[in-house]
Amino acid sequence: MSKSNFDTRALLKKMTLEEKVGQLIQLNSMFLGETTADITGPKQELGVSDSMLSKIGSTLNFHSFAEVKDIQDRHMSADRLHIPLLFMMDVIHGYKTIYPIPLGMGASFDPELVKECSKMASKEASAGGVHLTFTPMVDYVRDPRWGRVMETCGEDPLLNSIMGAAQVEAFQGDDISNPDNIAACVKHFAAYGGAEAGRDYNTVEISERLLREYYFPAYKACIDAGVVMLMPSFNSLNGVPSIANKWLLQKVLKEEWGFDGIIISDYNAVGELKTHGIAENYKDAALMAFECGCDIDMMSAGYCSSLCRLVEEGKVSEEKLDKAVLKVLELKRALGLFEDPYHGGSAEKEKALCLCPEHRELARKAAEESAVLLKNNGVLPFSKDNKKIALIGPFASTGAIRGSWSCNGLDSECVSVADGVKALLPDAEITVCNGCSAEWNILDRSGFDEAINAAKNADIVILCLGEPQHYSGEGSSRADIVLPGVQNELAKEIIAVNKNTAALLFNGRPLVLTELDETVPAILEMWFPGTEGGAAAANLLFGDANPSGKVTMSFPRSVGQCPIYYNHPSTGRPKTIPDDRHQPYASSYIGCGNLPLYPFGHGLSYSDFVYESLTLDTDKMTSDSEIKVSITVRNNSGRAGKEAVQLYMHDLFASTVRPIQSLIAFKKVEIGAGETVTVDFTITEPMFRFYNASCEFVSEPGKFEVSTGHADNLILTKTFVLE
Ligand code: NOJ
Repeated sequence: MSKSNFDTRALLKKMTLEEKVGQLIQLNSMFLGETTADITGPKQELGVSDSMLSKIGSTLNFHSFAEVKDIQDRHMSADRLHIPLLFMMDVIHGYKTIYPIPLGMGASFDPELVKECSKMASKEASAGGVHLTFTPMVDYVRDPRWGRVMETCGEDPLLNSIMGAAQVEAFQGDDISNPDNIAACVKHFAAYGGAEAGRDYNTVEISERLLREYYFPAYKACIDAGVVMLMPSFNSLNGVPSIANKWLLQKVLKEEWGFDGIIISDYNAVGELKTHGIAENYKDAALMAFECGCDIDMMSAGYCSSLCRLVEEGKVSEEKLDKAVLKVLELKRALGLFEDPYHGGSAEKEKALCLCPEHRELARKAAEESAVLLKNNGVLPFSKDNKKIALIGPFASTGAIRGSWSCNGLDSECVSVADGVKALLPDAEITVCNGCSAEWNILDRSGFDEAINAAKNADIVILCLGEPQHYSGEGSSRADIVLPGVQNELAKEIIAVNKNTAALLFNGRPLVLTELDETVPAILEMWFPGTEGGAAAANLLFGDANPSGKVTMSFPRSVGQCPIYYNHPSTGRPKTIPDDRHQPYASSYIGCGNLPLYPFGHGLSYSDFVYESLTLDTDKMTSDSEIKVSITVRNNSGRAGKEAVQLYMHDLFASTVRPIQSLIAFKKVEIGAGETVTVDFTITEPMFRFYNASCEFVSEPGKFEVSTGHADNLILTKTFVLE
């Protein structure tokens, strides 16, 4: 609810056709800056006249409040009706203080932490002049070759839904006119993450049943949480690009889900209808997108060049145009922009909030909670008594650990591993060397000798490996997802001289770590941890923090296993022999097991958690009753820690093939040294619903199993019946 009672309908009545169309156009802020001379070319390509430029409704991509104020002031004085611009930006995992990439935040299994971080980002961004963020990205994914998996929470629809809704609630709060809050935009509807072969922007062909069961729930959860805007995806979905896909945007989104918010195209997606070969020219593209429900055209020649004409020719009704414009004006009203076009932002506020100690502290905590201890033969945590420390690898001393989509964050603002370890252990003798590059095509081994010498002379070695930041994110798919370059070789050489070694990993996707797993005694996955990444790494390595993250995307053994995900349907010929062996005429591979190296839900701790019992209060239920589940976990160690307790379900018989496991609930709990905790869950009938062969959302009576543990290691299982 906004406090503003500005009369947007009265304003609409005063607007000319060009002014109305202008509200539906979004241009990059470089079109609006003080010196726009250098964009004459792009301006012509987009077909934006100078007259239209002063009437556009929104902009994206800018760097500071000063820039926002300058653009807003000039725009409002040039615009006859003084309508404020909307400033939108990709605030994905922080505005200036950067927390871990969403794939890492998902691994925290902690929606409250996600909320805290999103609120921090919202405050900073709002102070910096941002009114709306293109977040949350909730694309469901199964293929780590796709570079944008770093923006997601992984391969489980429930986790995606919970984390997506948490972000919407945190960014928007109860009232988006509150200067601490900004509006949110859920993206990319739909199934952008289903790109064939993991190649960005590629075709998506997915059955309706699969879409509804796995890909849609998180978008729907964000809509139910009140998200004000939605962005359709670039890809074609079952033959039709999302921005022109009537089934998707009209039937599912509007008719079934009742979404009445703003639809904004992705960057040039309207123009790309031409490249897709769906529209003959920009005018057709504009017509298709508008008729489908696209309110704002982001950075394409579609609406700029043709929407006025389409209205004049009667191809687009003025009534429909007014409805779209009113939605944009209403968002401006809800944000309070007619009263305060800066939404409470100011240079002073921005300076005070961005990278303040409190925000850095939260970013560090988030980086600690997101890190996943993939392997540990006991070498970690290192004792602080180790005096000689070698930090080796391309990520040893770099601040380039923010990850893609880091908004206004800078590498130079990040605490590197070297900075973090030095701050934690000021008296240690620390040697830092890169050893090699992390680029796939740089096979230079000339740094090996120095690294090997450093390792020989050290008590402990911290190997800092990974893939460069730009190897994940938009347009950054990889065909092979091993550690790039000669990093595996470096690891082998180091281990040969010093076994007291742990590897830290910095990467934006699950990598194939089979070789590294065979080489090093311990692996700590840091993802791209953000501004305080090095401080978090130091705390985790030396035991001041205890790892508690769990992977939310399977880490394959081989890229040939992709797409790989834990919740896959049962086959008629499942593999029944040990996973490293080929089983002829069963669903298996020659030369590679079926199981991933690290499954969904896997993550170790320095504590020793023992799952003692799984109890159900009854073994029968109906659609009106419920089952209470209790799981008891003991911390069998002298160290307090956190555990994400996961509850899985398997529907044993149904009319369509069901997944071998589905996560139905989780809770992250803190368990003190030697303590025991009981975690309670409630099972209700809607948890068993699925889309049957006719795409009806049903549950069917029958036998079910519930289990706890992680996807490939279900420690305790119980059976019950739904009557
Ligand atoms: C393209 C990306 O696909 C989308 O996620 C982003 O929000 C827009 N560009 C704007 O930067």
